[in-house]
Amino acid sequence: MNSALEIFQPGLLDGRTVFITGGGSGIGRGICDMLGGLGAKIFIASRNPEKLSVAVDGLRADGVTAEFIIADVRDYEQVEAAIARCAERFGGIDILINNAAGNFNCPTAELSPNGWKTVIDIDLNGTFYCCKAAYPHLKASGHARIISITTTLARSGWPQAAHAGAAKAGIQSLTNALAVEWAPDGILVNSVSPGPIAGTVGVDKLYIETGQEEVMISRVALRRFGKVDDIAGAVTFLCSPAGNYVTGTELVVDGGRQWTFASAS
Ligand code: NAP
Ligand code: COA
Repeated sequence: MNSALEIFQPGLLDGRTVFITGGGSGIGRGICDMLGGLGAKIFIASRNPEKLSVAVDGLRADGVTAEFIIADVRDYEQVEAAIARCAERFGGIDILINNAAGNFNCPTAELSPNGWKTVIDIDLNGTFYCCKAAYPHLKASGHARIISITTTLARSGWPQAAHAGAAKAGIQSLTNALAVEWAPDGILVNSVSPGPIAGTVGVDKLYIETGQEEVMISRVALRRFGKVDDIAGAVTFLCSPAGNYVTGTELVVDGGRQWTFASAS
């Protein structure tokens, strides 16, 4: 068995509609491929039209119904319009994946207020905006899921990326609050926390370009970076009926890093 996709029943997500931010690259792209491969319709929102076109063309070539819209998650009006467009095109929204994020290494003493604000705006405010705009559609779904991509470094604190750690901690708190508030509406709200995932901007920018690849691998219990498919598989589990009783949970998929290595510095 080469791919996590093979363990899920074909057509598992037939008829489901996914709205995902940042699905044109990295982990988000892998989530689109897996959920789309299992029958879901995929609607991607982010800023870069070239990246989005390539991703949507790839999905369509595999027979997946897919569309994209250019939207910056820092702007509520753009988010609202993107969600409305997805619901209009696909007849509703069943699954919201808050994946878009921005990050960079920077000692906190040197971080500008706008650097801090930029990451909080993309990660935390963008996640809230998507949840708020998608809520009426999710409430009408009958199979609703919200899954946000976070990190265990939100809990430990993230030296050199305190902005991202704080933003992700906020998302985890929001996740727990919405899990309770929106349970009566049938909306299950969870997060997935990846460890370092090979071939992604996150790992390239934070670890490889800074010469920390070997030390970071040594700090993962399984002694390797994860694969995009490892995260897509966890997301798929949460979207499937196997996840029907799971809400308000952080599903950690990190090769055991959280217990071998408390923070990133
Ligand atoms: P990535 O490829 O850079 O994905 C981030 C996506 O967010 C991009 O596709 C980007 O698309 C989109 N984005 C950024 N700013 C945006 C904005 N203002 N509005 C709309 N979209 C925006 O990085 P990745 O490493 O796969 O990260 C994906 C998620 O996994 C993130 O939430 C990240 O924090 C999390 N994560 C990653 C790792 C890892 O090892 N890679 C580990 C733990 C958690 P555009 O450029 O088109 O806007
Ligand atoms: N170190 C310190 N500060 C930085 C920085 C770095 N490496 N990169 C950006 N900043 C600061 C900028 O200086 C600016 O602050 P200032 O106005 O006080 O100078 C602020 O952050 C915004 O930068 P800007 O380049 O204008 O933002 P942007 O909106 O064009 O891009 C980023 C947002 C910076 C998060 C960019 O890296 C991005 O688009 N990332 C998306 C992909 C990504 O990070 N993926 C990894 C996910 S884990």
